[in-house]
Amino acid sequence: MKKILVTCALPYSNGPIHLGHILEHIQADIWVRHQKSLGNIVYFICADDSHGTAIILKSKELNILPELMIKNILNEHKKVFINFNIFHDIYFTTHNKLNYFYSLLLLNNFKIKNLLNKKYIYQFYDNIKKVFLPDRLLKGKCPKCLVSNQYGDVCNNCNIVYNSYDLINPISILSGSKPILSKSEHLFVNINNYKNVLNNWLLISELQNEIKNQLYLWFNKLLDDWNISRDIPYFGFKIPNYYIKNKYFYVWLDALLGYISTFKYFCNLNGLCLFEDFWNINSNCELYHFLGKDILYFHGLLWPIILDILNFRKPTGLIVHGHVLINKNKMSKSNGNFINASKWLEYFDSDSLRYYFSSKLSFKINDINLCLNDFIKTINCNFINKFINIISRISTFMEKYFNNILSNKLSDKNFYYFFVDKSDLISNNFLNFNYNKVLIEINELLNIINQYINDKQPWLIIINKNNKNKLHNFCTTIINVFKVISTYLSSIIPCTFHKIEKYLNVKLTWNNINIPILNHKICNYDKLYNYIDKKIINYFKI
Ligand code: MSP
Ligand code: ZN
Repeated sequence: MKKILVTCALPYSNGPIHLGHILEHIQADIWVRHQKSLGNIVYFICADDSHGTAIILKSKELNILPELMIKNILNEHKKVFINFNIFHDIYFTTHNKLNYFYSLLLLNNFKIKNLLNKKYIYQFYDNIKKVFLPDRLLKGKCPKCLVSNQYGDVCNNCNIVYNSYDLINPISILSGSKPILSKSEHLFVNINNYKNVLNNWLLISELQNEIKNQLYLWFNKLLDDWNISRDIPYFGFKIPNYYIKNKYFYVWLDALLGYISTFKYFCNLNGLCLFEDFWNINSNCELYHFLGKDILYFHGLLWPIILDILNFRKPTGLIVHGHVLINKNKMSKSNGNFINASKWLEYFDSDSLRYYFSSKLSFKINDINLCLNDFIKTINCNFINKFINIISRISTFMEKYFNNILSNKLSDKNFYYFFVDKSDLISNNFLNFNYNKVLIEINELLNIINQYINDKQPWLIIINKNNKNKLHNFCTTIINVFKVISTYLSSIIPCTFHKIEKYLNVKLTWNNINIPILNHKICNYDKLYNYIDKKIINYFKI
């Protein structure tokens, strides 16, 4: 039995959860559910990332205190995840005392290890709004690949992380003006001596090949000092004046530590003595972080260094996904093209999105273009026609002739075990994050079942009254293979799965997949899922 801690990247507290965030949580939630169904112990944690300039600016815009704003947003975020059947063991925030404690602890360790230095740097200043401009409020050309329209921290095109003052032809997003360079003193951490640590971690960690290659390139160049301070106005943790005057911790420092403080809080809250087990340098528990490709530098480079400096364990693996795109552009709040996750649920449901995203998700880091026509086709033609309809084809016989009681015998044992025997293959595809392969495999199995029903023609069997037993055993077989496929799909479509369990009047688990249900009363069939009306596209506007 494994013990696993799973995290998703912490969404910013400055706006609603959108379908881009949801992709990541669905990817993680499916994996967590599958690991649990195999009997492993999994803790799935997340929190809001509640600090940074974007937060203070947003709260000014809304004319409320940032503390109140992040509290309201936290409640919203929590609700949305639950509505998508994403159940974190804890959903916390980075704005709390524990997280401040770890930020100070890290700072102290930087100092003890002699890694801190102060430098004057030039930063962009918005002379109209009278603020230093944080990375995300600047746009310009990437200094590396020269693609325009990039933020001041990470390039969306080549994924390199740079200093905002290296942006070419910058403009302030706040005022649209050309920012001026202004001098201010900052606190830096020297991380260049950590290359060995990083390369050693690279050798033992579970990473996608593209990620390994990218990190290898980054690790083996000069690692620039990391600026961990930010100017006021800021919403976050104050750096003690002893280190530097009037500065705040850069949001990314305490955001990453949020993984630690959230788990610590979870343990405290539930009286669990698990913290050491999971974070100790010698921990034999596993730690997986799910994240988008845009924040790889922080998780793949800075995070292992931070953990090393704290003398904590390092991640077992990073699971990096591509971006959800709309009209070929990254769905994001700052791009202004996002589908609010709550709005989605006013028109569609969560299982359908979970199924659709699964059909696109693999261990490869591909972007996913959200196309509603394709979505509707996938749900109506694959999910409903091939899967759900199996049961509606059989349920009438069960009700009409057999009082909804399954027979004591399968008509075709081999047929049943053919599907049972696929369980390792399917499970491995889940464990390897290849959900698209799970669905390809399952669709093939469903084709076989549907063809089998067509060939056996149950509607003809019953014409001869003496064949009642035959039909009974046949229906029992079909219901049992449907049960197997439902179990395979359980982590993808938890809501529908729950309805299926109710209909079959039984608790389905991965462990008892090889035991057919016989001599058993099932319920009257109630429609499990409705087709999506294509016309909805006309009403659903981003
Ligand atoms: N607050 C940071 C993460 C700190 S982790 C210590 C952050 N927040 S975010 O709200 O911008 O993004 C949260 C996660 O959602 C990231 O992993 C990011 O990659 C992911 N996504 C945000 N937009 C996305 C898409 N359009 N598509 C897929 N994932 C997206 O980054
Ligand atoms: Zn670039």
